[in-house]
Amino acid sequence: MTIDNSSTTIKFPEQTRQRRQKVRKAVLPAAGLGTRFLPATKAQPKEMLTVVDKPQIQYVVEECVAAGIEHIIIVTGRGKSSIEDHFDASPLLEKFLEDKGKTDQAELVRSIGDMVQISYTRQKEPLGLGHAVLVARDLVGDEPFAVLLGDVLIPGKNPATKQLIDVYEATGLGAIAVEEVPKHKTHLYGIVNAEPAPQPPFGARLLRIKDLVEKPKPENAPSNLAITGRYVLPPEIFEYLAQTKPGSGGEIQLTDGLRILAQQQGLWAYIYEGVSYDAGDKLGFLIATVELALQNEELGAGFKAYLKSLKLN
Ligand code: UTP
Repeated sequence: MTIDNSSTTIKFPEQTRQRRQKVRKAVLPAAGLGTRFLPATKAQPKEMLTVVDKPQIQYVVEECVAAGIEHIIIVTGRGKSSIEDHFDASPLLEKFLEDKGKTDQAELVRSIGDMVQISYTRQKEPLGLGHAVLVARDLVGDEPFAVLLGDVLIPGKNPATKQLIDVYEATGLGAIAVEEVPKHKTHLYGIVNAEPAPQPPFGARLLRIKDLVEKPKPENAPSNLAITGRYVLPPEIFEYLAQTKPGSGGEIQLTDGLRILAQQQGLWAYIYEGVSYDAGDKLGFLIATVELALQNEELGAGFKAYLKSLKLN
């Protein structure tokens, strides 16, 4: 198939089809300082803040598992060791619970450690999301991989990561999740400049990226499609990130690497099915907590009744 409109020509299947591989690995960057959430994040990782009954990063790990990912690489940093502890086995706690006859709880604790293979690597300084992905290079190796931001939650039965994997495995090109945001809020997001490239089975959800713009003012925004925090990328992204010059604060932006990828190989934007919650700032976290509490099987009905009882002005 060849898509040839405007500036870039995307050619496949010849080169890419041979390279097309199963997406087995995922990188979860979780080394940021979480400054928007101070003071909560002074001594604990933002990714470990609890939404309803589990840390944010557990939702993200569960999305990976539901998407068929076999090996997760979490990029941590100083002060983030509680993430490793959370996904480790807890023999003492398990034995304590079993001795008390609390077998369900013992099984719950055990299942967190048994979910999936997880490796950890450290980003010594928080030099940006692109840099965090780059430090996972050796652990990923020469194969495609998913990236999931540790503080963006996308609940639901059809994992956004799986939707992107389907696009990658069908086309051999990387894909990033996008969603519509109100036009007046484009300055809060990475925004794609993309044109429809509908094709079965993805239909109008699939767009070809021409460019990506970081936080444009509404009047300069090329669209209202915001980058959501889920990506499936070919291994060549590492080379492009390595070529990327650090911007302000010495940070390497993932967006800069994606721009080169879009130009060199082609890159899809995919309007995924689902809703995301950016739990990385205080208001987003509160919204995520309310929404997920309402969806929670055990707590949802009681919480809804409580919300209804509130007399809000
Ligand atoms: P954010 O920008 O939301 O995280 O990055 P942050 O930098 O921790 O937050 P603020 O802006 O200071 O409040 C999205 C994800 O990328 C990771 C973060 O941990 C978060 O999960 N990240 C960001 C890194 O791993 N390394 C970095 O250098 C930057």
